[in-house]
Amino acid sequence: ALWQSVILLITFWTSVRSYPGVYSKLCFPKDFMFGVATAAYQIEGAWNVSGKGEGMWDRYTHTHPERVFDHSNGDIADDSYHRYMDDVRLLKELGVKFYRFSISWPRVLPTGFANEINPDGVKYYKNLIDELHYNGIEPLVTMYHWDLPQPLQDLGGWTNPIMADYFQEYAKERTTHFTRLRLTVLLDAFGSRVRFWLTFNEPLTFCHDGYGGDDAPGHRASGLEDYLCGHTVLRAHAAVYRMFQQDYQRWLNGFMGITLDLAWIEPASPSQEDEEAAERTRQFFFGWFAHPIFSTQGDYPPIMRKRIDDISSRQNFTRSRLPHFTPQEVTALRGSFDFMGLNHYTTYLATTREVPVRLPPLFDDDMGVKLSQKPDWPKSKSNWLKVVPWGFRKTLNWIKDRYGNPPVLVTENGISLDRGLDDARRVHYIDGYLRALHAALTLDGCRVYGYAYWSLVDNFEWMRGYSERFGLYEVDFSSRSRTRTPRRSAAYFAQLARSRCL
Ligand code: NOJ
Repeated sequence: ALWQSVILLITFWTSVRSYPGVYSKLCFPKDFMFGVATAAYQIEGAWNVSGKGEGMWDRYTHTHPERVFDHSNGDIADDSYHRYMDDVRLLKELGVKFYRFSISWPRVLPTGFANEINPDGVKYYKNLIDELHYNGIEPLVTMYHWDLPQPLQDLGGWTNPIMADYFQEYAKERTTHFTRLRLTVLLDAFGSRVRFWLTFNEPLTFCHDGYGGDDAPGHRASGLEDYLCGHTVLRAHAAVYRMFQQDYQRWLNGFMGITLDLAWIEPASPSQEDEEAAERTRQFFFGWFAHPIFSTQGDYPPIMRKRIDDISSRQNFTRSRLPHFTPQEVTALRGSFDFMGLNHYTTYLATTREVPVRLPPLFDDDMGVKLSQKPDWPKSKSNWLKVVPWGFRKTLNWIKDRYGNPPVLVTENGISLDRGLDDARRVHYIDGYLRALHAALTLDGCRVYGYAYWSLVDNFEWMRGYSERFGLYEVDFSSRSRTRTPRRSAAYFAQLARSRCL
């Protein structure tokens, strides 16, 4: 009996030990990078200080406060314009390898055009970048995180086909298009000190929600303007990437990508119809931007092309609502990346049938899919964000299979909760999603190089104002100094970033 119990004990111990994460640690490779992310409008404040011009989110929140959940805006936000040293101190405390932040276009070029550069704006980012380097933290810069200069929005912003024509002309002739110059401004000013660049953040969100939802500029013309916006953005991305590649990459030794967002889309049932509905949704949400850049075809996903062409012609449009690229644009777009930035938060179920609780329609008629979430998936403070870690592994695998396993940097993943320092649920969320990432990396061979938690600090969550909190650090928005206090998750993340083990 004694022997039997000894053997039983040994068997029990070895099986517990080998169960991932119980006693054996899950560690990430040596060069895997941990970081955190923010965006200019959400944290900087100082909206009209030191020569900054008006951005479209300034205009939108000032003229439509009722559209923001708590009627707030980013006028002061975390006041990071004045308190960036505090932010860098927190980054240092966390021990992260990199910091993803965005540059406010209207802070650097107040009118949007490059004929007028704001020296104070340039200085602010120079100081921030210097401070990061001084502390051994690598900057990852997003050129466009939704804050378009208002004068450019007055011209129609990203939907203006003339803007797209200008863009094409100038990109081709390599002269003075504003975006080319803007990049020249940015690369000349900061290029030698920033190795990692992202052109755009989540074009799906700002093109779809800006032109069919509630985000700025708040047009509700889904189906026309959103596709025009996407088209201009894609051309802009390709032009800027090619210029970077030709004129800068060699001497900068840098890398440029684009951040796209993909929630996992799971078929609501195993039926072939729902499988197809799920794949169609992934193509409309992600393929819209990924297919032209990351596939070998350099154009919109065929399923998107076909459906929108067919429906447009049934609607008696003389041309498809989904614009066409020229062959030159296709060539410029195809492969215009050094890495893929990925934002991933949650999972949806897709079906063609009616569902009881349905999410707000997205490209409703064009896509022909109804999306929902399981009521028993753990919730967050955001109505769209449920905790479904297995969806992350599937997302990474889907990207690997569809786009030839490109190098991926997770540029955002995170959870919103109520105020409070003891955020065990945030720790649990990060842990679950990182286990999924670890499996994708080590078991499935997905090429993931790093992970950024969204966000360093609580900040202005667009239409949800300050009512939802994503930060590892809690911010007291009622204090003048915008005091930042570490949450339990900050200690957890610091431990993780240092040990690289879960
Ligand atoms: C994606 C966006 O890039 C970011 O600005 C936003 O705050 C987070 N998701 C959370 O919703």
